[in-house]
Amino acid sequence: MTTITDRFNRPLRDLRISVTDRCNFRCTYCMPAEIFGDSYKFLPKGEVLTFEEIARLASIFVGLGVGKLRLTGGEPTLRQDLPDLVSMLAQIEGAHDLTLTTNGYLLGQLAQPLADAGLRRITVSLDTLDDAIFKRMNGRGFGTQRVLQGIAAAEAAGLAPIKINSVVQKGVNDHTIVDLAQHFKGTGHIVRFIEYMDVGNLNGWKWDHVVPAAEIIRRIDAELPLEPLEAGYRGEVAQRYRYKDGTGEIGVIASVTQPFCGDCTRARLSTDGKIYTCLFAGNGLSLRDHLRAGASDQDLQDLIAGLWGRRTDRYSEERAQQAPAQNRRRKIEMYQIGG
Ligand code: GTP
Ligand code: 5AD
Ligand code: SF4
Ligand code: SF4
Repeated sequence: MTTITDRFNRPLRDLRISVTDRCNFRCTYCMPAEIFGDSYKFLPKGEVLTFEEIARLASIFVGLGVGKLRLTGGEPTLRQDLPDLVSMLAQIEGAHDLTLTTNGYLLGQLAQPLADAGLRRITVSLDTLDDAIFKRMNGRGFGTQRVLQGIAAAEAAGLAPIKINSVVQKGVNDHTIVDLAQHFKGTGHIVRFIEYMDVGNLNGWKWDHVVPAAEIIRRIDAELPLEPLEAGYRGEVAQRYRYKDGTGEIGVIASVTQPFCGDCTRARLSTDGKIYTCLFAGNGLSLRDHLRAGASDQDLQDLIAGLWGRRTDRYSEERAQQAPAQNRRRKIEMYQIGG
C-alpha cells in the first residue's frame, strides 16, 4: 500500500467527502436558523463537484493510501441521486470502508437504495431522545420519531454497525445522555457522545458549554456500568467502552479535552472541490480548479501529495494549550465539510 506522510509523520488514510452544503435541519451549533434563512445563498450548481469529478478524485486519494471514504454534507442525503455516487465509489479497488454521516431524516426512503449501491455502514446524528429538546436543537421543530424510523430502516437494510452521534452541550441536552445510552443498549448500535467543538465561526462556542468526555463516562457508568475497550484502529476518533453486562458498546469523542491530532490521518474534500487538511482549517486547495483546467491524474496526485507533505495541522492540541482569546482565526464552517 502506498503511504504518504505529513511533517509529523502522519499517513493519509481517510477522506471525508462533502456532497452538498445544504441541510434540511438548522442545528443551533452548526447552521443557526437566524443566519441560514430562506434567502441564504448556498453554492450554485456549477461550483459543486459532479459525481464523475468526486469519483475521480476519490480514486486518486485511494491510490495515495486512503482506505476509508465517508460521505458528509451539509446533509448528504439531500444530494440528488446519491446512490449513484455510492455505487461509483464502491467500485474503487482499495476503498475498504465506505460510509455516510446523516441526520437520518430521509433514511426511511434511502437506506435500502444506499445499501444496494454498496454503502457498508452508516452514522446517524441524534443528539437526544427528548422531543422538546431535539426540536429546539435541530432548529426546525422536527421530532425524533422520523430519525428513529430512519435508524430502523438502516438496520433493516443491513447497514451495520450503526453509530449514533450525539453532540453534548452543557445545560442543553447533557441531562439526557443516560436515556440515550439506555435506549440503544442491547440493540447493537453504538452511541457516541461528542464533546461540543468550536467548529466554524458562528456557534458562539465557549469552554463552559463543553461536558468533558470523562464526565460523560462517569455519569453513564454510575447507572450502566462500563469498562474501557481497545481502539478499533490507529487514529480512531472515539474512545470505546463496553457495558459490563455484555450488552454492547458506546464511545466518546473527546476532541476538546483530549485532542487526538497526533494520530489524525484525515483529509476533507468540500462540496466545491477544495481539499482541507484539518477540520479547523481556514483555507483549502482547490482541486476542482486544477481538474477543470485539464490537470492529469498524475498532476492531481502530485498536488495532493505535496499538500499532505507540508501538513502541520494540530488545531485541537493548540486550542488545549492556548488562552481562548488567542484563538480567533477564521475557520471553515461545519456544513461546508461535514465534520
Ligand atoms: P468512525 O469511522 O465510525 O470511527 O467515525 P468517525 O468518528 O470518523 O466519523 P463521524 O463523522 O461520526 O465523526 C464523529 C465526530 O468526530 C464529529 O463530531 C466529527 O466532527 C468529529 N471528528 C471526526 N474527525 C475529526 C477530526 O479529525 N478532528 C476533530 N477535531 N474532530 C473530528
Ligand atoms: N461539535 C461537535 N460535533 C459537531 N457536529 C456538528 N457540529 C458539531 C460541533 N460544533 C457533529 C454532527 C455530526 C458530526 C459529523 O458532527 O452532529 O454527527
Ligand atoms: Fe445539518 Fe448536520 Fe449541521 Fe445539523 S449538524 S445543521 S444536521 S449539517
Ligand atoms: Fe485532525 Fe485538525 Fe482534528 Fe487535529 S483538529 S484531529 S489535526 S482535523
